[in-house]
Amino acid sequence: MSLLITNIGELVTNAPRDEVSVASPGPYDTMAGAALALDQGLVAWAGPARQAPPCDQVIDAAGRTVLPGFVDSHAHLVFAGERSAEFAARMAGQPYTAGGIATTVAATRAAGDDVLRANLARLAGELLKQGTTTFECKSGYGLTVADEARSVALAAEVTPEVTYLGAHVVPPEFSNDVAGYVDLVCGEMLAACAPSARWVDVFCEHGAFGADEARAILSAGEAAGLQARVHANQLGPGPGAQVAVEAAAASADHCTFLTDADVDALASSGGTVATLLPGVEFATRSPYPDARRLIDAGVTVAIATDCNPGSCFTSSIPLCVALAVREMRMTTAEAVWAATAGGAHALRRTDVGHLGIGARADLIMLDAPSHVYLAYRPGVPLIAGVWRAGERVA
Ligand code: NIG
Ligand code: FE
Repeated sequence: MSLLITNIGELVTNAPRDEVSVASPGPYDTMAGAALALDQGLVAWAGPARQAPPCDQVIDAAGRTVLPGFVDSHAHLVFAGERSAEFAARMAGQPYTAGGIATTVAATRAAGDDVLRANLARLAGELLKQGTTTFECKSGYGLTVADEARSVALAAEVTPEVTYLGAHVVPPEFSNDVAGYVDLVCGEMLAACAPSARWVDVFCEHGAFGADEARAILSAGEAAGLQARVHANQLGPGPGAQVAVEAAAASADHCTFLTDADVDALASSGGTVATLLPGVEFATRSPYPDARRLIDAGVTVAIATDCNPGSCFTSSIPLCVALAVREMRMTTAEAVWAATAGGAHALRRTDVGHLGIGARADLIMLDAPSHVYLAYRPGVPLIAGVWRAGERVA
């Protein structure tokens, strides 16, 4: 059954205008007074409302905004427990050190599959209600062969974008044998996780894994058929961003502390996106990454939530868009593009993040006359409807 959404005040397409069909997200683009036709789960037509084709069903957007569903390319949703006391302590002056990851690892190991599955379902529901129609989900709070394998298997129940993050931190039982843990991550644990995952990730940071360890983990993952992504330069300067570029990773995530050489490497990488996670800086009271410097240097930038119980427990891309605009000097258009098309690039997806003809019909209706309202009215629930593959889901 075809569906026409008409009388759209602003239609954000991220797609070139005059093309019959597009193979991937394009630059930021919008149309005023538009209509959008969906058929068989895909975008069938977009253009001026008065030229719209006949469809089985019609929805009047009454001047509201329609944009592609958000693509959240970085989230850690398989875990048990919570760390609100750690957050409160941080707001009272304690620094964030990532040491709390061990607390969540202990809670996750102790939890049954049913508890993890219910938590995951609740968070996936939150994401959808806030307009996220595609999301990535990492393991990384199990850190044993069995707990990592069940984490990726549970993640695969809710998304195809599953990331194996056995290299999140070295678990306490391996604190005197880091090399032994890296061997496990590259060997038996990888073999148990690869069938459920698409991506391999490593936290390349002082106190987690160094450059050589990260290289070994990414190349073992690649040999097992996984593509690379890297947690890079979150807590201080370091090799993460350049390791990501060398490994031809889809994304270097965080990018809070970058040198000029890191920015140059990302700009000339030809495919490594810088994924910025402003909710983390908000929730850890850290300096924000310099998005302006990255964009001006020609780096492709994505925005994602990093939803996790420690460094940032938001599932809201609209909040991250508002932070990106207010705190990272992105324009409203850049931020919306980064949360849609940018996320699609970071996941190497061509079918989402845009509303070109032939794209998956994943879209949001905003109760607002333009995309600007996402940043102009922070904290206000503006998501009036969400469609995934042409079906209304929220
Ligand atoms: O992306 N940086 C490492 N991992 C997470 C934090 C995990 C936690 O604190 O539980 C992050 O910020
Ligand atoms: Fe993360």
